[in-house]
Amino acid sequence: MSDPANKLPIGIFDSGVGGLTVYRALHDRLPNERFIYLGDTARVPYGTKSLATVERYAIENSEFLASLGIKMLVVACNTASALALPAIRAKIGIEVVGVIGPGGRRAVEVTSGRERPVIGVIATEATVSSGAYQAAIQRASATAEVIQQGCPLFVPLAEEGWTREPETYSIAERYLARIRESRPDALVLGCTHYPILRDVIQSTIGEDVQLIDSGEATADEVVALLAELGLADPDEVGGSRRLCDDLDHFFVTDAAERFANVAERFLGTTPSKLEAIEVYGLDQVKGGSVIK
Ligand code: DGL
Repeated sequence: MSDPANKLPIGIFDSGVGGLTVYRALHDRLPNERFIYLGDTARVPYGTKSLATVERYAIENSEFLASLGIKMLVVACNTASALALPAIRAKIGIEVVGVIGPGGRRAVEVTSGRERPVIGVIATEATVSSGAYQAAIQRASATAEVIQQGCPLFVPLAEEGWTREPETYSIAERYLARIRESRPDALVLGCTHYPILRDVIQSTIGEDVQLIDSGEATADEVVALLAELGLADPDEVGGSRRLCDDLDHFFVTDAAERFANVAERFLGTTPSKLEAIEVYGLDQVKGGSVIK
């Protein structure tokens, strides 16, 4: 007999390693759940690619995860959430949660005391040009003013672990000066990697500006949605859960060792179950090499 739906794991995908910040936020809040994470490291970055390409990659990733049996899919990648949610929902018959709606709603919530809140959004170029955050914020608050800025160099800086280097501060200064001049009330970290650079971003934009981590806002909504849909796993996991323990399974489409190294930098630990696979169409899925 197959497992009841609430015993299935939650699927998460990202264009690469950045979604580990979303995995961490989910794992912290949901110790009884198991997660399957797919990082599309062969095709990262998504943030500079076209709508058609991001949609195709996002559908392949989603179909791969759905084929493993999941009860919910979290699209951790902001770019894929901004561009491909309708296409994913049309293809797979399970609950799909993106990070843009929750991030936008949280920004409006924390600025609700302001009559005309000014909300900055930093993200990849593709997310900015999609206007998805602007739409999500303005759906929640018709009076909000939204100022967006693409910050593509933040992605490699986070992956390199350059979280305090002078070069990172000067790039942040250049990216954030325009938003800072508009005196924002809140700034949405609209890309999986940006929470890693939180300290640099906070000190550059100003200590009084509230930073919104879309991954954390999403994890809070996932907790509520699991309960609402009766999908939360009712059984306590015996012993203590650890990030990346063997209840969670990680897949990458390339360069598993590099993924493990960056995971160590982002999470302070590496996945106990990590496999390299290909996801180019379900009929071509190839079982991969387990490196650990
Ligand atoms: N994961 C992507 C995002 O959150 C950032 C990296 C990329 O460009 O693929 O938008």
